[in-house]
Amino acid sequence: MFSIGFRDQAGSARPERYPLDPSREVFPVASNPLAPQWLSLPSDANELLPALWSYNTVRTDGEITVAGVGAAELAEQFGTPLYVVDEADVRSRAAETLAAFQRAFSGIGTTAKVYYAGKAFLSIEVARWMTEAGLNIDVCSGGELAVALAAGVDPGRLGFHGNNKSTAEIDRAVGVGIGAIVIDSLQEIDRVAGAARRHGRVQRVRLRVNSGVHAHTHEFLATAHEDQKFGIALDAAADAVAAIRSHESLEFLGLHCHIGSQIFGAEGFAESAGRLLTLHAELLASGNVPELNLGGGFGIAYTSSDDPTPIDELAGNIAQTVAAECARLAIPVPAVAFEPGRAIVGPSTFTLYTVGTTKPVAVSVTSTGVNVSDDAQDGVAIRTYVSIDGGMSDNARTALYGADYSVRIANRASVAEPALVRIAGKHCESGDIVVNADYLPGDVTPGDLVAVPATGAYCWSLSSNYNYLGRPPVIAVRDGVARVIVRGETEADLLARDAAFREGASA
Ligand SMILES: Cc1ncc(COP(=O)(O)O)c(C=O)c1O
Repeated sequence: MFSIGFRDQAGSARPERYPLDPSREVFPVASNPLAPQWLSLPSDANELLPALWSYNTVRTDGEITVAGVGAAELAEQFGTPLYVVDEADVRSRAAETLAAFQRAFSGIGTTAKVYYAGKAFLSIEVARWMTEAGLNIDVCSGGELAVALAAGVDPGRLGFHGNNKSTAEIDRAVGVGIGAIVIDSLQEIDRVAGAARRHGRVQRVRLRVNSGVHAHTHEFLATAHEDQKFGIALDAAADAVAAIRSHESLEFLGLHCHIGSQIFGAEGFAESAGRLLTLHAELLASGNVPELNLGGGFGIAYTSSDDPTPIDELAGNIAQTVAAECARLAIPVPAVAFEPGRAIVGPSTFTLYTVGTTKPVAVSVTSTGVNVSDDAQDGVAIRTYVSIDGGMSDNARTALYGADYSVRIANRASVAEPALVRIAGKHCESGDIVVNADYLPGDVTPGDLVAVPATGAYCWSLSSNYNYLGRPPVIAVRDGVARVIVRGETEADLLARDAAFREGASA
């Protein structure tokens, strides 16, 4: 169903099973050619790098604990797989992110709002944590809107995105008094204006534009036009704003742009902000433009090789660019808004799994690590497949995007020599991989618990019932207390929507 491209140096290596041919050299673990270039052999395969784990996750007597609760106890109480959220971590990152932007932009004489991007992970509890930390919330579907409303969030603190909001979604959003709708197409202008008229409201709107800047991780691409579904091209935006302003039932707040995800540096934001402010200045000539929304996309560490810029520094750099561009254009600095999701919830969570099987696979590689052949000089590299009780249904990102993750044994520390592992799910799909490559102590064994960190964003929210696996529960841990914030799905849940299902019937 999904295609994946792993970054093995060994190319299309052909796996073999033990026992190994004793005449062939086995590459030592330190120079295993199957390890991707970015992955270095750790001096301690039990170490929890602080950048990858939530603030309150540590090892205590060998076991991974979060906010005082051990992995084994969590697994015992709630079963596995399990999303384990460090509640205090989420709350702190939300508050730190808001403070970072407010500090940076008050330094240039304006205000900053932060909308938490609910698509990263939204539940009623999470929505409450965000508003309690002073954030607003960005939703992008009627379902996300329903969750935010069920959490009691003041609708005035919500923003609504999406390239194809239905008329029913627009009507409901306007009807409940949503703070702002981000218009994404010309057709939507009339739809939102019509809904606002019907509800007797003046609806605040932003216009999503496509700045031609697309960023992913540390690289960004700047073009005149971007070939994608979101937003309106910069050169068509002035007409769209004029159309918005022609409706008495709409109030134009300003431009919006989101340049991508998992971005490590400020350069892409700076380039995009410059382009947007040029248009913003033009629009000021014909009316009010109080705000500028620069979207989300701030990156986090998933592996030891990821080095995202701290949010304080990013906020400061973006603020300096905005100040410089406004000075260049001789315009007042607008109020700004941002929409981070991943940077707030991503590092807060690990997914806990139980190991079911381990399978060392011998892969033939040439000494150059490129081809497979039976040449006498070939070596054999070992990769251990560690199969867990979840997979692409609880973390689709690896299969979907070729994302990299890390892994640690959670129930114990071990002094065994590290082995190169691949964490595989239990789905009927060879691309069902959760962690492409990491080192675990080589004695990892069935019954061990393993934890995959940084799964707080776009894992639960992208989860599925593929192969009729129930989605795992989400457990929040705080001050030594673990509680369910989203329960796991049961077999009854899985059958409930099947119209032919009759309770008590057997095959
Ligand atoms: C419009 C918009 N805003 C914000 C976000 C949040 O991005 P991130 O979670 O990477 O910060 C996204 C993500 O796709 C988005 O599309």
